[in-house]
This record gives sequence, C-alpha cells and structure tokens, in this order.
Amino acid sequence: MGLEDRRDQEPDVYQPAEDSQLLADTATDRLTGDELVLEVGTGSGYVAGRIADETAARVIASDLNPHAVRQARAANVETVRADLVAPFRDGVFDAVAFNPPYLPTDPENEWDDWMEHALSGGEDGRAVIDPFLETVGRVLAPDGVVYLLVSSLTGVDAVVERAGEEGFSAVAVADESFPFETLTVLELLP
Ligand SMILES: C[S@@+](CC[C@H](N)C(=O)[O-])C[C@H]1O[C@@H](n2cnc3c(N)ncnc32)[C@H](O)[C@@H]1O
Repeated sequence: MGLEDRRDQEPDVYQPAEDSQLLADTATDRLTGDELVLEVGTGSGYVAGRIADETAARVIASDLNPHAVRQARAANVETVRADLVAPFRDGVFDAVAFNPPYLPTDPENEWDDWMEHALSGGEDGRAVIDPFLETVGRVLAPDGVVYLLVSSLTGVDAVVERAGEEGFSAVAVADESFPFETLTVLELLP
C-alpha cells in the first residue's frame, strides 16, 4: 500500500509520511539476508510491511499505542504492544529500526493523546530516543545494527553523542532535506 492509500486510516495512529518512507527505503536497501528485524514504534505497520515485502527478513514490530497495534496487525505485521524493546529476549535481533517521536515540544503545548506519543519528543526532542538508546543494545545480536531516523530539529549531533555513550558508533547512511528540517537515518553499530 502506498503512502497516500494509508493516510485516511485510524485517526489515533501516525500514518506514513516522508520520514517513514526514508527509513523504509534505507532499511530495505541495506538488509540483504534473512535477518530477524524488530521495528520499534511501528504505527501503521508501513515500515515493517515494506521490509517484509521487499527483503528476505522476518519482521516483528512493537508499539505502545493499541490503535497502532491493531492497524499494523490488520496490515499483516506481527505486532506486540510494548514499551520500546521491553518484552523481547536478549541478543535476538539482527536489526532494529525506529522512527521515533522526535519533535521538541514545549511542556505547556503537550497534548495528552496517542498522536502526542507519536510526535512529541519532549522538551529536547529526545525523551523517547534516549531510553531507546539505553535499552536497544540488550536485544541486538552481537553483530546487529540499528537504523534510527533523526531530524535536524532534534539535533543529530546530540543523538550521535548519546549513542556513543551507550557504546554505539554512528554513521549517517541516508538523508533528505525539507524546508524546515533535514531527516537523517543513522546506522548504529555496537
Ligand atoms: C513518528 S511515529 C512512526 C510510526 C511508523 N513507524 C512510521 O514510520 O510511519 C512514532 C511511533 O512510535 C510509537 N511510540 C512512541 N513511544 C513509544 C514507546 N515508548 N514504545 C513503543 N512505541 C512508541 C508511537 O505510538 C508511534 O506509532
């Protein structure tokens, strides 16, 4: 299903946009074998579905939002309702992909619904990225890889620095510029 076809679905679920497409394009280009892949925060299931359809990888997804879990499952993505990587076993995933909530948001402008969970990265934009970086290493196989979408609005250098503190080396493997932000996919290696 293309981007436009999905945009009318569940109002409480982040529907695929340019960031979803950049992450899906990058992951499908770079996954070349029968990897076991986790997509964290799958939303509609678009990125996980593209990986499953376009590569030989097996894909599992997670999302905190029950509406997203329902939409992703309806798109035939095996999806678990979970906070980041919490329920998954140690060392099992060859690759983990995440398009996180990354918009810096003034606490006074936070709104308490599922779209906030999809979009808001708290005051510095990294309120979900930081705990992800702290925990993702546990579920990665020894030669595993992380594909993390970041925005210039969030501060790519700050994310790279934080990833380094968690033992990852980071390389930018894709980027795309828009009038108000540049999106980058970081490849993180433990
Ligand atoms: C920017 S949206 C990306 C959705 C989809 N992957 C895409 O690229 O179109 C971020 C997603 O992360 C989910 N999310 C936010 N915090 C989460 C958490 N702690 N654990 C799991 N998923 C989370 C949101 O519910 C949302 O679906």
